[in-house]
Amino acid sequence: MRHLIEPADFSDAETLAVLNLADRISVNPSAYAHVADGKVLATLFYEPSTRTRLSFESATLHLGGRTLGFSGAEQSSATKGETVADTARVVSCYADIIAMRHPKEGAPLLASRYAAIPVINAGDGGHNHPSQTLIDLMTIRQRKGRLDHLTVGFCGDLKFGRTVHSLVNRLVRYPGNHFCFISPEELRVPGYVIEDTLVPSSATFEEVTNLEENLPKLDVLYMTRVQKERFFNEEDYLRLKGIYTLDAEKMKLLQPDTPVLHPLPRVDEIAMEIDQDPRAAYFTQVQNGLYIRMALIMTLLGLADPVTGEKVLTC
Ligand code: CP
Repeated sequence: MRHLIEPADFSDAETLAVLNLADRISVNPSAYAHVADGKVLATLFYEPSTRTRLSFESATLHLGGRTLGFSGAEQSSATKGETVADTARVVSCYADIIAMRHPKEGAPLLASRYAAIPVINAGDGGHNHPSQTLIDLMTIRQRKGRLDHLTVGFCGDLKFGRTVHSLVNRLVRYPGNHFCFISPEELRVPGYVIEDTLVPSSATFEEVTNLEENLPKLDVLYMTRVQKERFFNEEDYLRLKGIYTLDAEKMKLLQPDTPVLHPLPRVDEIAMEIDQDPRAAYFTQVQNGLYIRMALIMTLLGLADPVTGEKVLTC
C-alpha cells in the first residue's frame, strides 16, 4: 500500500506517469466515469478548505465513487480528544482512501502509519501540500512545455507557504532550474528547505525582497498569500499582508509567455484586473486540480487506466 504524504513519496517516473494520466483524463473525462465504482473517499479536514476538499470529492464522484467526511475538527470526535491515529484506524473501516488536512505538521504521516488504506496529505500546517504540487507541475508543463531549465520566482509568504516548500522539493529534481525567492526578511524560505532540499540539489537560488526588479527574468511566477492563520502576532500580519501586489502595471514587466500561478485563495496579492490576462494561470490550476486528483485517486487505489490498460504504480 502506498501513500502520498510528501512529494518525494513518488519517484520521478511515477510523478510523470500521474501527470500523463491527468492529461489523458483532461481530454476525455467521460472515459473514466466508472473507474472507481463502489469506492469511497473520506475527506478528514481539520482545517478550512474550498478547492482541495471539494476537488477531491468532485474527483471521486467523477470516477463513479462516493465520499464521506468532515470539514472541520469541531464536527469530529477530535473535540472529545480522539487522536489522529485512532481516527485513521476507524475511518479505514468505512472508506477505501483518505484525504487529510491538518494544522499540525506531520499529522497525515502519523495517520498513514495507523490507517489500513492509502492516505493523501491534503496540507499539513506550513509543511507540505503534495497534491497541489502535482497540479502546479501539470500547469507549468502545459504553459512552458517543460519542467527543466526554468527560472521560477516564488513571491510572498515563503516561510509558511506549504505549496512553495512542496513545489521546490519537486522542481529541484529537474536539471537547470533556478529559484528566485521574493519575500520580506520575516517570511523567507525556512532553513530546512534550504539545507535539506536546495543545497543537496543542482538547482541554484537567490533570496531577494524586490518584486518589480526581478519580474523580467522569470519564466514562471508563483504568487502566494500571506497566511493570517499561521501568525502568532496580528501586528506582524497586518504589517506584512499587503507587501506585494501584482497589478496590470507590474504585469508589463513580465515576459509575454510567463505564466502567473497561485494556489489560491488570494487576498490582495493579485489584483482582479489581471484575471483576463492570458498569463494568469491560477484558474487553470483549479481546473487541473480535478484531473490531478482523479489521477491520484486511481493511482493510490491501484486502478488501471481504461484507455491504456496501465497502472501508474507497479509496487
Ligand atoms: N489551494 C488550496 O489548498 O486551496 P484550499 O485551501 O481552498 O483547499
